[in-house]
Amino acid sequence: MTQRTFVLLKPDAVKRGLVGQILARFESKGLRIVALEQRTIDAAQADGHYAEHVERDFYPPLRDFVTSGPLVALVLEGDEAVQVVRALNGATDGRQAAPGTIRGDYSLSNRENLVHGSDSPESAEREIALWFPAL
Ligand code: CMP
Repeated sequence: MTQRTFVLLKPDAVKRGLVGQILARFESKGLRIVALEQRTIDAAQADGHYAEHVERDFYPPLRDFVTSGPLVALVLEGDEAVQVVRALNGATDGRQAAPGTIRGDYSLSNRENLVHGSDSPESAEREIALWFPAL
């Protein structure tokens, strides 16, 4: 079933010059870019995106990280896009993510893990409405 999913290329991806390589993986897989924009977000926007994590111990440094510099927000579309993107991204912790995944190949951290992908179709709907209300 064709789905849309929301993806963030986090500030570490932009700082490290990995945006092109990461986008190439999504495009090579056959996913279509529906929207894409580089933005810098503030703490309130970070809290809105990570609403389910704001009370967690790991959240304050995560907020600092995602507001530390420009990131790239995008919407991808394709068959089973939510699950496909999560598989391409790999496990949350880059040290445990399988080689061949984005995090497995380029990250050694569970915070600075380069990418975010919606974890369900319901999250995708919420995140797309939050980041790209015109879609
Ligand atoms: P993401 O897919 O954006 O969803 C929540 C984010 O929180 C996750 O990627 C990581 O960047 C971060 N995260 C999750 N668990 C931890 C943790 N235990 N320590 C630090 N950061 C975490």
